[in-house]
Amino acid sequence: MVNSKVTVSEILKMKREKRRITCITSYDYTTASLAEKAGIDLILVGDSAGMVVFGYNTTTPVTMDEMILISKAVTRGNKRSLIVGDMPFMSYQASDEDAVRNAGRFIKEGGVDAVKIEGGLRMKRRVEALIRADIPVMGHIGLTPQTSPLWGAYRVQGRTEKDGENVLSDAKALEEAGAFATVLEMVTAEVSKMVTEKLSIPTIGIGAGPFCDGQIIVLNDMLGLYEKFTPKFVKRYAELSKEIQKALENYKDDVVNGRFPGEEQTFHMKEPDAKTTPQQQSPHKKQEQHS
Ligand code: KIV
Repeated sequence: MVNSKVTVSEILKMKREKRRITCITSYDYTTASLAEKAGIDLILVGDSAGMVVFGYNTTTPVTMDEMILISKAVTRGNKRSLIVGDMPFMSYQASDEDAVRNAGRFIKEGGVDAVKIEGGLRMKRRVEALIRADIPVMGHIGLTPQTSPLWGAYRVQGRTEKDGENVLSDAKALEEAGAFATVLEMVTAEVSKMVTEKLSIPTIGIGAGPFCDGQIIVLNDMLGLYEKFTPKFVKRYAELSKEIQKALENYKDDVVNGRFPGEEQTFHMKEPDAKTTPQQQSPHKKQEQHS
């Protein structure tokens, strides 16, 4: 693990050196800082925020302004991981100009290091336009959540040989266009293995089996924070929804029954040792004093 900032070159080097790349989504300061401490290589400020942060039913409605707002929080919280901003639906589809302008906003205003767009062969020219503007790009092929549902194609990709060849030509197109990596979503393990072996850029799998160069997972899914549905490819590393629910119910119960605040959380006019150390001050108070 390097301690310095992870760069696009480092991600490419990891593929060459066969070191697995760890990636996670994040949408806020706190989890971005925790991911930094855990040594995660790449953070995706995913448009899955549309569902897990903003409560839309799909990722489609999420806007550039919403994505930039959360990117600012993530980039404040994590100075080490490579941070990739996920271009929302219709922020890059209409023209190269739209793509470059919106990706530029992501970098300048959101502070991210690179952007991700969905689509392979059909997005080759778009990726080239972004690279010409000196913006590093990560691809996303296989199942592409922004548009697959529109075509009734929300299904595992690469079940047949022909399907596998399509995934490979998408991946090759991204590599040729200059993308530094590509996400493979819901692709059969056989096809993602073949694609990973044939590419010089890393593949980052989500529901794409164990042979990819790296793995990504939606943070809220792996923490058990998003309960609406859990795809088969998610492994739960915690059950935070249940923990939070329990904590909130206990808090309510304590307040209603007069158990909170207790003596420990209470100040008095005269106390034997009334010196307030900086640690005892509320963080909000400290903030006020600094500003
Ligand atoms: O938005 C997102 O979280 C993603 C991941 C599924 C890769 O694109």
